[in-house]
Amino acid sequence: MATSLCYAKPLKPFSLRLPQTQNPQIPTQTTQIREAETLTITGPTQLSGHVPISGSKNSSLCLLAATLLCSNSCLLHNVPTGLSDTKAMLSILRSLGAKIEFNERNKEILVNTDGVGRVEPCLEEMRKIRGGFFVIGPLLARFGEAVVGLPGGCDIGERPVDLYVRGLRALGAAVEITFKIFPWQFLICGNRLCKPTISHSNTEKMAGIANFCIITSDDTGLQRDGRVLAHSANGKGLVGGSFHLDFPSVGATETLMMAASMADGVTVLSNVAKEPEVIDLARFLNDSGACVYGAGSDKLLIKGKCQLRGCECYVPPDRIEAGTFMLAAAITRSLISISPVTPSHLSCLIDKLKIAGCKITRCNNDTLEVSAIPENVCENLRGFNVRTSPFPGFPTDLQPPTMALLTTCSGSSIVEESVFDRRLGHVRELQKLGAKIQVCGSTALVFGRETRSALHGSQLRAADLRGGVALVLAGLVAEGTTQISGIGHIGRGYENLDTKLQFLGADIKRSIAMASQL
Ligand code: EPZ
Repeated sequence: MATSLCYAKPLKPFSLRLPQTQNPQIPTQTTQIREAETLTITGPTQLSGHVPISGSKNSSLCLLAATLLCSNSCLLHNVPTGLSDTKAMLSILRSLGAKIEFNERNKEILVNTDGVGRVEPCLEEMRKIRGGFFVIGPLLARFGEAVVGLPGGCDIGERPVDLYVRGLRALGAAVEITFKIFPWQFLICGNRLCKPTISHSNTEKMAGIANFCIITSDDTGLQRDGRVLAHSANGKGLVGGSFHLDFPSVGATETLMMAASMADGVTVLSNVAKEPEVIDLARFLNDSGACVYGAGSDKLLIKGKCQLRGCECYVPPDRIEAGTFMLAAAITRSLISISPVTPSHLSCLIDKLKIAGCKITRCNNDTLEVSAIPENVCENLRGFNVRTSPFPGFPTDLQPPTMALLTTCSGSSIVEESVFDRRLGHVRELQKLGAKIQVCGSTALVFGRETRSALHGSQLRAADLRGGVALVLAGLVAEGTTQISGIGHIGRGYENLDTKLQFLGADIKRSIAMASQL
């Protein structure tokens, strides 16, 4: 069954294996404990065996947001329910009045949005994830109004929302961003101290810069009040239109797709994202009665419908988690198999690993075997150059774990991060393990090694999701003990990472850190 990815079909009444528990309350206490946990890894190690891949985090987040469009229940299978991002999205839906039935064991979530009576999701939950912002599209489309907090998520660069705002305006929405700026609060824009002048034209850009400033100036007052207020300008609903995205943003594409699917008339979106998650969303929308054409290409044509019904949907496997385990096999010079995985979603990585000297075998429809065992790769894996770019280019989410691998390959490699402007934070931590990396702007020059075990264990801190997993991979091959704190970031996007690695033979333990270790 795992092979039939993201199928969706109209929901048959009462055909559901209903959940054990009702509306689990997510104890915030849990989060703190998570924050205080560390991972202790003893290396170097070799892995072997098979690893199952969970449902896609990024697909689940936009599919869960899309349930807000549906006038009756949606049943999602294979949802990575153990991720803190999934839980944050469920809290956002619940804060709007959606009814959620959850089956952790079967990885099933039943969402009924009939009871949605609010258009302002819980701000606190919004701050936890980027994906929460996607709800602005379906709320506007279905209820003609939305008041949404500016998104949180990984601090990997300026993450403005200007494309969302301008795209929604092109669909007939009136949109503004509010900030409460206190006179004594000056913003640090880049290396300049400036007193903000709030005017319509740069509010969206401000959205990005202000976020940055909040992080550096640690001024929560402002953060709490950054919101986007939107309503349909004609007071009736959104209207079909055309919009060209300056950059093929995944989130903006998904949000505008959802908004346009219930707009009056036809919408044409050009230079859109082509990521597999966008195709998953289009499949879900079409099976809920929408008319979305062109997903996977750089142009979308959407004929709006006045109502969408619910559907049953299977969340496809997480291509980034699969790619991470392929890199784990390479960095530990191991042979492991991975499934379910869609090879075409990872063709860039597969090409690079083959250049390095790995042997990649497709065992069957959805299983890949990655081998980097010495018998297969003679002396050492070779380095390679990487430049991240939107799909089908090399995924930016795999850049940090790929860099960890390159620190163990022979020869030097150039890693260019072109999607986010501050996604090299993991370099500092890898250097603590003895990695030789030079950074200039968004480009890193990685000096490899003739032998892989040139890294040595140390105490590290994860600062974001993918940067955190890069430290785990490096810890698997570093001599001695590596301790990683800040692993709450990793739990946002990897379900049971330590357990899966233990099953592959890694010596990795999760423990509560003493305050001094944090
Ligand atoms: C999605 O983020 C993913 N997140 C990210 O995964 C992923 O890295 C990214 O796409 C790129 O593949 C989710 O799906 C929840 P973007 P998103 O909008 O949508 C600029 C992970 O680790 N931009 O495609 O936020 C922006 O600044 C996460 O799982 C604008 O300029 O990414 C960035 O440079 C991290 N204006 C670029 O586009 C806008 O209005 C790409 O961002 C929006 C974006």
